[in-house]
Amino acid sequence: MLRSNVIASQEVHAKWGGVVPELASRAHQEHIVPVVREALDKAGVKKEDLDAVAFTRGPGLIGALLVGTCFARSLAQALEIPLLAVDHVQAHVMAHFINDGEERPMPDFPFLNLTVSGGHSQLVLVRSPLDMEVIGTTLDDAAGEAFDKGAKVLGLPYPGGPLVDKYARTGDPDRFVLPKPAITGLDLSFSGIKTAFVALVNRGEMMQPGFKETECDHLCASLQKAIIDHLMAKMRRAIRQHEVERIGIAGGVAANSGLRKRLLELGEREGVKVFIPPFAYCTDNAAMIAMAGHHLLEAGRLATLDVVPIARIH
Ligand code: KG4
Ligand code: ZN
Repeated sequence: MLRSNVIASQEVHAKWGGVVPELASRAHQEHIVPVVREALDKAGVKKEDLDAVAFTRGPGLIGALLVGTCFARSLAQALEIPLLAVDHVQAHVMAHFINDGEERPMPDFPFLNLTVSGGHSQLVLVRSPLDMEVIGTTLDDAAGEAFDKGAKVLGLPYPGGPLVDKYARTGDPDRFVLPKPAITGLDLSFSGIKTAFVALVNRGEMMQPGFKETECDHLCASLQKAIIDHLMAKMRRAIRQHEVERIGIAGGVAANSGLRKRLLELGEREGVKVFIPPFAYCTDNAAMIAMAGHHLLEAGRLATLDVVPIARIH
């Protein structure tokens, strides 16, 4: 049962219009002790009561991962408890299973999950918490990057995904037509949509200064539609190809209201059950890492104290 889930706000990224790796590492260093202390306080447990320490081993920015890894190793060593090295992308899928006391349906295995975040976009066949097969992945940008870069060219602050979502609600998604990525199989691609969107905005601004402000809602709605259309086309194909009965989404982009709605519609059309985690567990959070760690602990898959982070796993 989840006792606390503390997240340090990352204002530094908004200030610089994106994630600057060096600044992200420093922010991690600054926040890690107060965040862990607050998590323990909120949970009402002493560090001596902990059974294990789970941390993100990767993939991600190496500087930030080093801070977390060093801290987790030291804590586990000091407390003489097991250390659990979690794969961040797999942990996103665990968002479906977080028990925070609220009644909500959880998917049975196997199910098909669309994991979409700022760094990853994957179609995953989830057979069990420790058995996940990636059946499709992005060949270039992640879905979150397409949202963030699109927002940036519109002059919106980082991370732009939530703002594109907000403005899209009052926009016409068919006002501007963006390309459909022509990628065979179950792989994904977002760089074509992104490039076409940047060109569209720049061209509009040249012809009509102020275009990106006056057309902001429609531009956001059109960008969001193009991204979701591509994701839904691949999900549909994967559902049929792998004959799945349950589908889900996870990752920061799974917080997108348009995507959540379209996934429910897809589920209805294809006759499969849909599972969508609460917003708080879609974007990066500690609860999903703990959940993934719990399964590693149960399976006895402990990390050694000399474990090192890895920037890329998949
Ligand atoms: O999972 P996450 O918190 O971090 C990574 O592991 O990358 O995902 C962050 C990404 C960012 O690109 C952000 O813009 C996007 O998730 N995001 C959204 C929404 N909320 C967060 N994208 C679209 N609509 C949203 N509502
Ligand atoms: Zn993430």
